Amino acid sequence: MVPDIDQLHREAVAAIRAAGDLKALEELRVHYTGRRSQLRQVLGSIGSLPADKRRSVGQSAGRAQKDIEAALGERQQVLKLEQEAGDTLDVTLPGRPPRQGQPHPLSATADELVDALRHMGFAVADGPEVEDEYHNFDALNTPADHPARDDHDTFYLDDGSLLRTHTSTVQIRIMETQPPPIRVLSVGRCYRKETVDATHHMIFHQIEGLYVDEGVSLADLKGTLTALAQRVLGERTQIRFRPHFFPFTEPSVEYDFSCTICDQRGEVEGRRCRVCKGTGWIEIGGAGMVDPNVFRHVGYDDEKFSGFAFGFGIERVAMIRHGIDDIRLFLESDMRFTRQFSS
Ligand code: DAH
Repeated sequence: MVPDIDQLHREAVAAIRAAGDLKALEELRVHYTGRRSQLRQVLGSIGSLPADKRRSVGQSAGRAQKDIEAALGERQQVLKLEQEAGDTLDVTLPGRPPRQGQPHPLSATADELVDALRHMGFAVADGPEVEDEYHNFDALNTPADHPARDDHDTFYLDDGSLLRTHTSTVQIRIMETQPPPIRVLSVGRCYRKETVDATHHMIFHQIEGLYVDEGVSLADLKGTLTALAQRVLGERTQIRFRPHFFPFTEPSVEYDFSCTICDQRGEVEGRRCRVCKGTGWIEIGGAGMVDPNVFRHVGYDDEKFSGFAFGFGIERVAMIRHGIDDIRLFLESDMRFTRQFSS
């Protein structure tokens, strides 16, 4: 007489799932799958069944065995975990406080720069990291034969687009969509084919500012950058302009912040200051008055409006603030590094 295998199957799985402890589970295991269990007897007797029953009985018995074993395994795991937790739970122990995270030093520096500029009325704007040549170069008055456009320097994608080499692209994207007056900042990742070393990386971050209105002058630029430098590096920070060339500004300058590490003395404890290399000044970035050709590209009246723009690397400022001597550390995600900076 063959027992009702399907019923046995259901009954066994239900009982196993309800087993309250490991001992009860072991009893169920012996009862349902042990040597003298009904299931084993059925499996052992298949050969002697009439030929027309062998197949269907064999199949349901096989299925039942597989499910019952799986249920036993699952229940055993759960019960073991419960038992372990019960064994080790000491309710008198103080709780474990969740570890507090903190911003990455680069984000913290960027946030401060953004904050300082927002206080001066700059709104935050965003632009794509995958750009086209027009926004990265042409609209910024950068001619086709400019060395920055070489594939030695710029990452080009197969479809002709590129990874932006600076955040100045956002100037164009904003002016294309909004009439003056404009006062925006943009922060983001930029890419260049640099050989990576302690002061260069092919992935870096810039912050960009743009102010366009009637009667904006170089003095406004200097005032803005001075206020920015003093907010982030301290009240005593000074700024100096050096003449330079950028295709998208005229006149153009590079600017330096006074060294806050050695207080412009050029040395620290009798040694040459490592941050400014003894010069008392630290090179920061580029700026200038927006070139009339750029205004023409975006359809602004270059007779009526003038504007300044500036851009610089955030890594550089973070390195000065924290005395970090290797730019590669920023992208390595090594917690031993990032944990050192409380915000
Ligand atoms: N985009 C320039 C660079 O990456 C920096 C720069 C120069 C930005 C002059 C400006 C600017 O906005 O006016 O080297």
